[in-house]
Amino acid sequence: MPDSVKGNQICTLVIFGATGDLTHRKLIPALYHLKLEGLLSEKVQIIGFARQNKSDLEFRAGLKSAHKEVSRTLYDESFWQVFDKQISYHQSNFDDLDGYKSLESKIQAYEKGNGLPSNRLYYIASSPSFFGTILDFLKQSGANSSSDGGWRRVIIEKPFGTDYDSACRLNKVVAGSFEEADTYRIDHYLGKETAQNIMVLRFANAIYESLWNNRYIEQIQITVAEDLGMESGRGAYYDQAGALKDMVQNHLLQLLTLVAMESPVDLSADAVRDEKVKVLRSLQRLDTIEKVKKNTVRAQYVDGCVKGEPVPAYINEDRVPKDSKTETYVALRLFVDNWRWKGVPFYLRVGKRMTKKSAQISIFFKQVPQVLFNENQKLEENVLMIKMQPDEGVAMKLMSKVPGSSFELNPVNMNFDYETTFAKQSAEAYERLLLDTMSGDATLFIRKDEVEEAWKFVDDLAAIWKDESKAVDLATYEAGSWGPKEADDLAGKMKHKWLEI
Ligand SMILES: NC(=O)c1ccc[n+]([C@@H]2O[C@H](COP(=O)([O-])OP(=O)(O)OC[C@H]3O[C@@H](n4cnc5c(N)ncnc54)[C@H](OP(=O)(O)O)[C@@H]3O)[C@@H](O)[C@H]2O)c1
Repeated sequence: MPDSVKGNQICTLVIFGATGDLTHRKLIPALYHLKLEGLLSEKVQIIGFARQNKSDLEFRAGLKSAHKEVSRTLYDESFWQVFDKQISYHQSNFDDLDGYKSLESKIQAYEKGNGLPSNRLYYIASSPSFFGTILDFLKQSGANSSSDGGWRRVIIEKPFGTDYDSACRLNKVVAGSFEEADTYRIDHYLGKETAQNIMVLRFANAIYESLWNNRYIEQIQITVAEDLGMESGRGAYYDQAGALKDMVQNHLLQLLTLVAMESPVDLSADAVRDEKVKVLRSLQRLDTIEKVKKNTVRAQYVDGCVKGEPVPAYINEDRVPKDSKTETYVALRLFVDNWRWKGVPFYLRVGKRMTKKSAQISIFFKQVPQVLFNENQKLEENVLMIKMQPDEGVAMKLMSKVPGSSFELNPVNMNFDYETTFAKQSAEAYERLLLDTMSGDATLFIRKDEVEEAWKFVDDLAAIWKDESKAVDLATYEAGSWGPKEADDLAGKMKHKWLEI
């Protein structure tokens, strides 16, 4: 066993929904790279659980061809041959108790035969409609508990519920089968290097933390833009969810909590999550029509061009109803009502079919109190940019003197780029998250109360948007643009502008 693998990480990982897209494109490549880095013991066995009839060999062949297409490193056949010996397949329907029982017997026999600890990690990577079923059957088959001291953990994919009530119901089902401390609700944004670096940037650098409040910060922007429209087959799901539930409830609110939270007492999972949940509780609710009209924009894309190619309007995408009123873009102006942030707007925007794929947090500092230099010269504010996609890094916009005999000023960027600085590609989010679950560290996962608070906030807004009598407009924007004009007006109300990315 490599030194970097700890004994208590040895487990059997069962992936429910293992013939699916997530397993092929994200989970198996992540496990392969953990092994490549010496972070996955050869004693970890990976079992795919799904409905199709497949032999182990067929299952591995499918994983291999998908992995070759998406691998972030050069594919190495001899390494794959070593890795795939750890993978096997178990055919069963999610609602067939016998399938769970036969799996349990198979795992127990293997563990006993090979002198392995009886640790189990269950990854529920199925459609959300099966989350409850799988949790129930794990319990009924006894696979959720151990009589010999081994641990049992469960990872649950997103979306966790479709509103507050359904999230609470699902939380009850989870609690019936697993302890909260053994439950890992995933939001893969938290596994990204830059998301983790937000805490380091804030709490390991004296200069930022002392300025991190409403005395020095004018406004904060969080942008998550995608250039893609509806990937094949996703239209039906997306049309039910929309950008608010698909992206804001989880990824954007999670990023906001990392930016706005107070310093935790330590880095334990509960200490960090205690602080994040306080931010969600401090969010000013969007629970009246006046607040919604003043602080939100929802929009849908029409025909346009992305990267020079014409693309159809949302309503002409596959499996999207022609009369759909679902938003593919959301812009929000939010306020965190506490001492640190009183009065500072947090602008969140997220959209599909925008100009380019990009995720960035931009912290705008207040202007200097007096302009000393050439009065006609416009000073731009300092902006700290935390870049998450496509490249990861941090940049700071400063004003600088242009070389020469006069005081001509220009904005310049101080840049730090992960790949160049550390001469190393960042790991994929799922690598870090899978490793953490094997190590029993839930810091980067969502706790029960966090998911419920986030839904409470989103439900208020969703209810008003949905209520036709309230007549909240659905704006439009051209595919390939940065969103509707109404979003510029939203920022303009406080004389702010969206940062050009
Ligand atoms: N794909 C992504 O990039 C991505 C990203 C973030 C989150 N997620 C989340 O990850 C989860 C899985 O997504 P996915 O895209 O991988 O889904 P998917 O491609 O539709 O895969 C679904 C899986 O569930 C299995 N399945 C369906 N019904 C079953 C049944 N009755 N019994 C046994 N197995 C059954 C399928 O097996 P058969 O093929 O054998 O029927 C397949 O393995 C979802 O919650 C999604 O929201 C996905």
